[in-house]
Amino acid sequence: VSTDLIRFMHDPAAATALGARLATVMSDYWRAAQTDGFVLPPIMRDRAEMLRVATAALEQAPASASAAEDRFVALARTFMEQSHRLHAPQDSGHQVAPAVPWAALMEGVVSASSQGVAVYEMGPFARAAELAVIRKLCGFIGYDARASGIATGGGSLANLTALLAARNRALPHAWQRGLGTAPSPVLVMSSDSHYSVARAAGVLGLGTDSIIKIPVDGARRMRPDALASALDRARAEGRTVIAVVASACATPIGAFDPLPEIAAITRLRGIWLHVDAAHGGGLLVSPDLRGRLAGIDQADSVIWDAHKMLHMPALLTFLLYRDGKDRFHAFAQDAPYVFGDGETPDQAEWDAGLATAECTRKGHTVALWAFWSTFGTAATAAIVDHLVATTHAFYDDMRASPDFVPVHEPECNILCFRHIPEALRSVSPEVLSRHQQTLYQKLVADGRHFLSATMLDGEWVLRVTVMNPLTTCTHLQALLSRSRELASAKQRGRTVALACGTDDSVQRV
Ligand SMILES: Cc1ncc(COP(=O)(O)O)c(C=O)c1O
Repeated sequence: VSTDLIRFMHDPAAATALGARLATVMSDYWRAAQTDGFVLPPIMRDRAEMLRVATAALEQAPASASAAEDRFVALARTFMEQSHRLHAPQDSGHQVAPAVPWAALMEGVVSASSQGVAVYEMGPFARAAELAVIRKLCGFIGYDARASGIATGGGSLANLTALLAARNRALPHAWQRGLGTAPSPVLVMSSDSHYSVARAAGVLGLGTDSIIKIPVDGARRMRPDALASALDRARAEGRTVIAVVASACATPIGAFDPLPEIAAITRLRGIWLHVDAAHGGGLLVSPDLRGRLAGIDQADSVIWDAHKMLHMPALLTFLLYRDGKDRFHAFAQDAPYVFGDGETPDQAEWDAGLATAECTRKGHTVALWAFWSTFGTAATAAIVDHLVATTHAFYDDMRASPDFVPVHEPECNILCFRHIPEALRSVSPEVLSRHQQTLYQKLVADGRHFLSATMLDGEWVLRVTVMNPLTTCTHLQALLSRSRELASAKQRGRTVALACGTDDSVQRV
């Protein structure tokens, strides 16, 4: 590669011309997603073809400077055209937000400056924006001035980090010496906790056998009576409890665990309470809905995904501690070449890397900081209110439907339901369960709408998560109509390679 080409790649004028064209690619995507009437592009359903296209692009001879701009724009178009359209209002699948375009564009600005927020000097303003946003989030939780936190890469990593801090507080020698003692410590969670919480037990060396799963009640909320008995049993057996993990809300149906009761139980026993509010945290911003998380201020740690209900681009999660000092329990590690010699007292506050698994992190929080600085948190509240209200209105409509039956009343923006046409009213639960799974797969193959499917108590159900603020009941009714058509259509003997229809991915909600 010639020096001239390197200069060309860093030439601001060339980047400006390219940037204008890439902006058009993005706006074409946003427009098409709102109007074209499908979520999954046809080619996406053929995995082999997708891989062929991606591989062929890499195998082309490099472009000359004069041809580079056209090729780069064409590649951007290929990517956009073959991507899952989260911005389509018929998408109500998984818990990932169609990022507000303004925030996505601000992320481009952050990427342009390559800020690596591990030590303050590598991303000074990005870190300041992060701390300002963290203060705001702690305020929404109801934490006082002692609270602090960190932005990290996703809810799963945030859960792991919080539970690492809890483990190191419960077992102060574990970081250096390992666990090494019997009887084994335990991690307590509800049977509906996200899989990343159970996975943390394995990663932290506790072992997944050390998980105690507390049963849920009829509304799928953790049962406080069962929690209290389980904790007392663990104590009687001489087992250290690392933490109790509550969900606000849990993934399967969006149920909020009863935090005040759970907090009273953990406080009495001096046990760390961690609240996984990856999904439901957004409701704290809404004056009308924040009551659903009452008691969250009593948690020792909380995680909150911004790429879910705060409508930021993936991936951005906040891990917040009631006592900010707790964040240093997670990684009790010296790295003087990175974090200084400890002689500057407030340096730890600014060097984010002391509290995260990552060293270099992107300054993602700038997008949320800019969004709230421009539109205010009321804009997020309006989005969240709309999502929750639309889901409830869909539930109300469904109760009048002859063939779709809700499994529960939604507390959040998640609704599970079954298709039970007349012909299937008296079949076995297994047959009904298989019908939901097959219908889900037909919908994915069809591509016009997207929803998810999950297993509740061993049976498949269909599941919508209303994440798009442009989604209305009309879109959701269209999903039901299309489902009816697909359910009654005969298979045409054609096998469709599903992009994400395997049992594995179906369960990964
Ligand atoms: C309750 C809950 N916790 C954690 C996660 C994991 O979050 P992430 O996908 O950001 O890793 C999810 C994902 O859906 C979730 O629903």
